[in-house]
Amino acid sequence: MPAIITSIAHYVPSDVYTNEYFEKYLDTSHEWIMERTGIAERRFAKEGANSDLIIPAAKECMEKRGIGPDDIDCIIIPTVTPDHMFPSTACVVQNKLGIKKAWGFDLSAACSGFLFALITASKLVESGAVKRLLLCGSDKMSSIVNFDDRAQAVLFGDGAGVVLIENSDDPDYGLQDFILQIDGSGGQYLKQVAGGSFKPASFETVQNKEHYIYQDGQAVFKAAVKGMADVTVEIMEKNGLRSEDIAWLVPHQANLRIITATAKRMGLEMDKVMVNIEKYGNTTAGTIPICLSEWYQSGKLKKGDKIILAGFGAGFTWGAIYFIWNL
Ligand code: ACO
Repeated sequence: MPAIITSIAHYVPSDVYTNEYFEKYLDTSHEWIMERTGIAERRFAKEGANSDLIIPAAKECMEKRGIGPDDIDCIIIPTVTPDHMFPSTACVVQNKLGIKKAWGFDLSAACSGFLFALITASKLVESGAVKRLLLCGSDKMSSIVNFDDRAQAVLFGDGAGVVLIENSDDPDYGLQDFILQIDGSGGQYLKQVAGGSFKPASFETVQNKEHYIYQDGQAVFKAAVKGMADVTVEIMEKNGLRSEDIAWLVPHQANLRIITATAKRMGLEMDKVMVNIEKYGNTTAGTIPICLSEWYQSGKLKKGDKIILAGFGAGFTWGAIYFIWNL
């Protein structure tokens, strides 16, 4: 029987950075950023680590379900900004939440992290191996953004979205299908150059700013438009879905132009597309669960809605998930 989402919550820092903030020290403008990306503002955590974004959302998620730390069996954290390379942020979160009998791990799939983790989590609960799984899509992108580079400083933000995954006995709701893919030949276009075993941290790597994001924006843009649009159309065809059957497209929020191109290929009007990039920028593993949480909270996402989640990110990694909302 399919896995379902039995609770959802999100957390974003309160400190808002508008485009005007960047205009003060970078050669950029609100008009350029809005026109090329659709982003008006983003939130950065002034202090704390990624786990500090996750904890408030995870607590709210458990509270809403009426459960406590003893009820969680497993924690999965898709992220590119873990608190440390090791131990995993899953261990940090387990300890901070006082969860006693769980296992868990971090998952590296960049902007497709939530999608990859949702499938991993769903298969664990569907198999019976895990009963209640806390899936925390979260990134503190401000910790790896090069704020001197106008082509990346304006794109990202910090934020977390947490869902509780459980099994259901009703085949009409929850996870229906997925297509996920990786292609390492795209790795050269979007990466953190140093800090891993390939190029360990040194004085030079710090001096050369190789611990920040490196991206060839145009190469990523082109691959993302094609990857996201192709995979969403493929999952629709595979499941006999017409555009009128779909209540919401829930796209990864990297650039409004990528989102619009995907919706167009699906034959969807923009009023059926979840978009909040103007408020938060790209929070990497956080974008999709934050959208779901906001739309559910505001009553726009309803039980029985057929939704397509779609994402594209570093790796390259990409995919689409067909899900029938159950809450
Ligand atoms: N303000 C003003 N000008 C800018 C800015 C800015 N903030 N950023 C770049 N420019 C300039 C460039 O320097 C360039 O100037 P030049 O012609 O003098 O050289 C010009 O604008 C055009 O640059 P392009 O790169 O062609 O601009 P483009 O329209 O492609 O937009 C952007 C750039 C926004 C980065 C876009 O390519 C994009 O969104 N790419 C995808 C990025 C992405 O999705 N990353 C997510 C992955 S994150 C993850 O997986 C962890």
